[in-house]
Amino acid sequence: MNSFEPRVFSGVQPTGNLTLGNYLGAIKKFVALQDTNNCIYCVVDLHALTVNPNPEELIDGTRSIAAAFLAAGIDPVANIVFNQSRVHEHAELAWVFNCVARMGWLNRMTQFKEKAGKDRENASVGLFAYPTLMAADILAYRGTHVPVGDDQKQHLELARDIAQKFNNDYSKRIGDLQLGVPVTVGEETVNGYFPLTEPIIEGPATRIMSLRDGTKKMSKSDPSDLSRINLTDTADDIAKKIRKAKTDPEPLPGETDGLAGRPEAENLVNIYAALSETDMGEVLRDFGGQQFSVFKPALAELAIEKLDPLATEMRKLLDDSGYLDQVLAAGADRASAIARETMGDVKRIVGLSG
Ligand code: TYM
Repeated sequence: MNSFEPRVFSGVQPTGNLTLGNYLGAIKKFVALQDTNNCIYCVVDLHALTVNPNPEELIDGTRSIAAAFLAAGIDPVANIVFNQSRVHEHAELAWVFNCVARMGWLNRMTQFKEKAGKDRENASVGLFAYPTLMAADILAYRGTHVPVGDDQKQHLELARDIAQKFNNDYSKRIGDLQLGVPVTVGEETVNGYFPLTEPIIEGPATRIMSLRDGTKKMSKSDPSDLSRINLTDTADDIAKKIRKAKTDPEPLPGETDGLAGRPEAENLVNIYAALSETDMGEVLRDFGGQQFSVFKPALAELAIEKLDPLATEMRKLLDDSGYLDQVLAAGADRASAIARETMGDVKRIVGLSG
């Protein structure tokens, strides 16, 4: 526990179409958290450069994530909604963190290994340093809680390691400048500047899997469009993708234990649970013993009922790009005010001018 002011921060990268995984694993949770928290939600366009998108796609992608945030119900007045590149402190703090983080820590990141593939020599330095920018995103606001899907867990552990090393390396200076807040690690409490951020990875949808392979994460970058439901899919697309989703020949079990070793069945039940805001046990109480020929149409109907209004609202918002840009710019002004203060403190702590 630490005594920082509670603040929720999270980000979504504007590359490719948003998927049902992004929605259930992250955006839907962002919406729920806004009722009881100060929240900052960011479209991380600097991160998108690590995969080299074309400039027009990056501009459209940024607006499209902003549209998804608003269409899902995030209130941009009660919360801060903006895109990363408008607040230069993210990149500036990331540089300081590049000098705090160790090569060994970044070398262990499984997402880098997966994305770089076999040809690591040819991966960009940005892709390697991706998690230090992510730590800067959160810590520029001294964010205490970060809602994400399961795939971001390791990156958040790294953000904690960076915060902890920064606090330890500069503890004397932080104390001298009276900028410290008590931060407790295990039995020990130090005067730290950055909180050790807590991930919020909970509920049924922390890891939505591919519709074609229940052992692989549903992802924007999967070459097969049938593997995912995009938030912009039409009702017909959604129905077709669920109909074609890979399954096994057995009926659904009556209890969750019966899903062991059946990743595709488990994934579809999990999606149903997340969309209907229940749990898998509840879904199996209703559908246990049924064949997929019964379950799939019910799931398609539910998915369309929940996602179609979202897609319609997103399309409406995307028709008014001026409005979206205005929301992002206004959010960035408010974000800048906080990040500027943090960066000013960090510069004093580490001995930089400005
Ligand atoms: P990104 O853009 O890949 O994904 C955005 C959010 O969606 C979640 N997610 C999933 N959840 C469940 N099942 C899935 N199949 C699935 N696919 C994606 C992700 O876990 C994430 O929460 N590095 C981050 C963006 C980022 C960020 C940050 C997040 C940059 N800075 C600071 C939090 C705090 C990313 O690429 O997410």
